[in-house]
Amino acid sequence: MNRDSEVFKDLESILIDEATLQQRIQELGQQIGQDYKGKLPVVIGILKGSSIFLADLVKAIPIHLTLDFMGISSYGGGTHSTGVVKITKDLEETIEGRHVIIAEDIIDTGLTLNYLLKTLKQRNPASLTICTLLNKQARRILEVEDVGYKGFEIDDHFVVGYGLDYMQKFRNLPCIGVLKPSVYQKF
Ligand code: PRP
Repeated sequence: MNRDSEVFKDLESILIDEATLQQRIQELGQQIGQDYKGKLPVVIGILKGSSIFLADLVKAIPIHLTLDFMGISSYGGGTHSTGVVKITKDLEETIEGRHVIIAEDIIDTGLTLNYLLKTLKQRNPASLTICTLLNKQARRILEVEDVGYKGFEIDDHFVVGYGLDYMQKFRNLPCIGVLKPSVYQKF
């Protein structure tokens, strides 16, 4: 889509443009390819935010891999940062003995990933790591171990796009943008 589309009009700025995203994702893919050569990793996408990143990431990994998905949602509270999450869609394959790479769009407070890591480690994978496109270290409540791959370190902006939503919209924006405060202050 081009920049006069309605999806762009609520943005204050573009934080990471498409070309920069794609170049970094190629680097991550190459690195993962080297690190997991001969290991047939399973890449797990956490719905829905990671879906766009996952699609580009796996195309950049030049070795065989398998794909699986998990759906999670927060319990109560209304925000996604309660840390108590419910699995709404579980993996289809067992991960026992597998080398697992969790693809995430963003680590913010760290609560969701801590819960997920705990849950998945109980299933005895051979190894477990996280590949996150964005990392907002400034907002961390619980540190997240096992983050093997990070795309970009970002400051505490309200970011949308490339899978990240505001009220379920903006996921289809092809870049990472900062939302105008007037958009989310309305609610
Ligand atoms: C986002 C993101 C992570 C989580 C990170 O998901 O995909 O899973 O929040 O936040 P945390 O570090 O503060 O726990 P969200 O709950 O917004 O769902 P979505 O992927 O469907 O948009």
